Amino acid sequence: GRDLLSLADLTSEEVTALLQLAAQLKSGQLKPQCNKVLGLLFYKASTRTRVSFTVAMYQLGGQVIDLNTTTTQVSRGEPVEDTARVLDRYLDILSIRTFEQQQLETFAHYAKIPVINALTDREHPCQILADLLTVEECFGKLKGLTLTYVGDGNNVAHSLLLGCALVGMNVRIATPADFKPLTEIVEQAKAIALPDTEITVTEDPEAAAKGSHVLYTDVWASMGQESEANSRIPIFQPYQVNEQLLSLADSEAIVLHCLPAHRGEEITADVIEGSHSKVWDQAENRMHAQKALLASLLGI
Ligand code: CP
Repeated sequence: GRDLLSLADLTSEEVTALLQLAAQLKSGQLKPQCNKVLGLLFYKASTRTRVSFTVAMYQLGGQVIDLNTTTTQVSRGEPVEDTARVLDRYLDILSIRTFEQQQLETFAHYAKIPVINALTDREHPCQILADLLTVEECFGKLKGLTLTYVGDGNNVAHSLLLGCALVGMNVRIATPADFKPLTEIVEQAKAIALPDTEITVTEDPEAAAKGSHVLYTDVWASMGQESEANSRIPIFQPYQVNEQLLSLADSEAIVLHCLPAHRGEEITADVIEGSHSKVWDQAENRMHAQKALLASLLGI
């Protein structure tokens, strides 16, 4: 089956079609139904992704099995190759949250059913589909807008690079020198970008924020570096989304954060609770975007 392991698995046309389907599902214009079973195999904690996938599948008439490291044999060392071939015989579609992209790819290789990346250390494609839906709702378009991401050049930054490139949004990534996104992903984004799309990687958050339509951030230590969080704060402090940084953006700019947020670190309380913040719509849109993805991959 078709998988979604990276946003780069999709064409520009496919992203546009998924966002259109998500909007139609959200408005109630379309109500596709199925009798399929989704498995959620999560090696890491999750609030938004797990609950939004579950509710989306219920609303499609399907069922969900919540799998995790304590309720399966994966924690006792059953090989991924075996787990994948077994789950393939029971489930219709499988969403996986894990650490290494390679492990996700091994699952997808051995399971013939569609496999979805529900977050790896490399990418978070489902998050970015919801983000693009949110931007489109706010501005009525995507192409030609500028999104600035400030903070850690992590999995969310990687998927933003690819997602913005595919829809023709200019994307600026501002990070400390030692926290840049992977060069290979920046190059991949440039290779798949629609014409006239600017892709910038910088260490200057203020230059990056200037005139932006979307200001985006994420936690400063998300991928197993939580123990380093305190030592990172001084390095990341200039990259905080606060009123001062927001004042450099377009006057109609929106603020996004994939959540969970750490107020006073990557974003201030006044900005996340302020009038430019769309983070709750963004979180809601996880459900609509993933419902569209499930419907599309299941062919319903
Ligand atoms: N944004 C996000 O993926 O949230 P969860 O970790 O709660 O799923």
